[in-house]
Amino acid sequence: MAMPVSTWVEVDLDRFVANLREVRRVGGPERDLLLVVKADAYGHGAVEIAEAAAAEGVAQLGVATLHEGIQLRRAGCTLPIVALSPLLPSEIDEAVTHGLDPSVADLEFARAWSAAATAARRPLRCHVEVDTGMGRTGVLEREAEAFLEQLVALPGVRLASVYTHFPDADAPDLGFAEDQVRRFRALIERLAARGVRPPRVHAANSAGAVNLGDAGFDWLRVGLLAYGHRPPRCDRQLTLAPVMAFKSRLVQVRELPPGASISYARTVIAGRALRTGVVAVGYGHGYSWLLSNRGHMLVRGRRVPILGRVTMDLTMVDLGEVPDARVGDEVVLFGDQGEAVLPLEEVAAGSETLPYEVMCTIGKRVSRIFVRGGRPVKLTSLVGESEAWTRQAADHFRQRAEAVATARRS
Ligand SMILES: Cc1ncc(COP(=O)(O)O)c(C=O)c1O
Repeated sequence: MAMPVSTWVEVDLDRFVANLREVRRVGGPERDLLLVVKADAYGHGAVEIAEAAAAEGVAQLGVATLHEGIQLRRAGCTLPIVALSPLLPSEIDEAVTHGLDPSVADLEFARAWSAAATAARRPLRCHVEVDTGMGRTGVLEREAEAFLEQLVALPGVRLASVYTHFPDADAPDLGFAEDQVRRFRALIERLAARGVRPPRVHAANSAGAVNLGDAGFDWLRVGLLAYGHRPPRCDRQLTLAPVMAFKSRLVQVRELPPGASISYARTVIAGRALRTGVVAVGYGHGYSWLLSNRGHMLVRGRRVPILGRVTMDLTMVDLGEVPDARVGDEVVLFGDQGEAVLPLEEVAAGSETLPYEVMCTIGKRVSRIFVRGGRPVKLTSLVGESEAWTRQAADHFRQRAEAVATARRS
């Protein structure tokens, strides 16, 4: 266990690829994927996820911000990239320089984009979101035809796609989402009648892809499924595996006497002698403070409860049931450990939030270990990438696998 890393995320790229193939199976052969890699690919590492996606033939990537797009371009990504959030006019020059395609929702921006195309002496792609009920961004449905007609007439502007977004395609009642599909389809037909034919049309996020048979259009625009998680409602049979696991280690094991208090606000007073483990994770890593006195972790394949408040850097657990636990032991915050599993969904519920938020708020101080064939292939950290640490991580993985195999035999 020589790996000089106390808290990390494991990103299993084989699982990611298998999930992508499963999403393709759901979509059918005629449908391509727009993989959503915003927020650092939901915390998985956008550069590495984009590389794996490109190798799998994903057609298009979606980011939220200009800088997310630039990060991918600097890493050598050549796939088309759409910014799903509106860009500001002041971001246009950088978007053009880096070959990033905006989602355009107002004519002023569209004209500025056209001017940029003229200046660059080449056509520039853009996408148009139509708001059929998300109530967030895009062009109002009733203004969409007029807007698109004016947009496609602007010099140098190449319409790449028209899309819409579902606010509740995972709801018990799919009535609103189904109506969105009907209205969106009718709009696309009206546009075609006026001679506006976007080369690609897309609507389905993960929930739409599995719950709305009719929402496939040309691309599935998914994140969650690719990262191995089902939306709360999921009507399709799917084989998915979580790509991310969040892990830390015991940095201290202590015997506290009766009467000792634990952590800020002294919410726990030991009624008896307690064996506690100090885990190198806190809200400064993105581990929610709401898990104080509520959440669980896995140590040596056993569930252990959190004792007291989660602090910025450290969290205490009760090791009463794990007498063999030692400093340096791996602690699973979500993910699996031998036969034991602590689902992301449980941690999200304990954190009073969504799995999305848990994944994408895991911070920069948490290393990422990318795994292929069950072995670390790359380790990134706050202080950069390290091949030596990647090799040490490989030793850690080997020892861990041996320990699991030994436990199974005994
Ligand atoms: C516009 C848009 N499309 C697609 C997605 C992907 O959603 P999901 O991860 O649920 O598939 C998102 C994510 O929030 C989004 O904002």
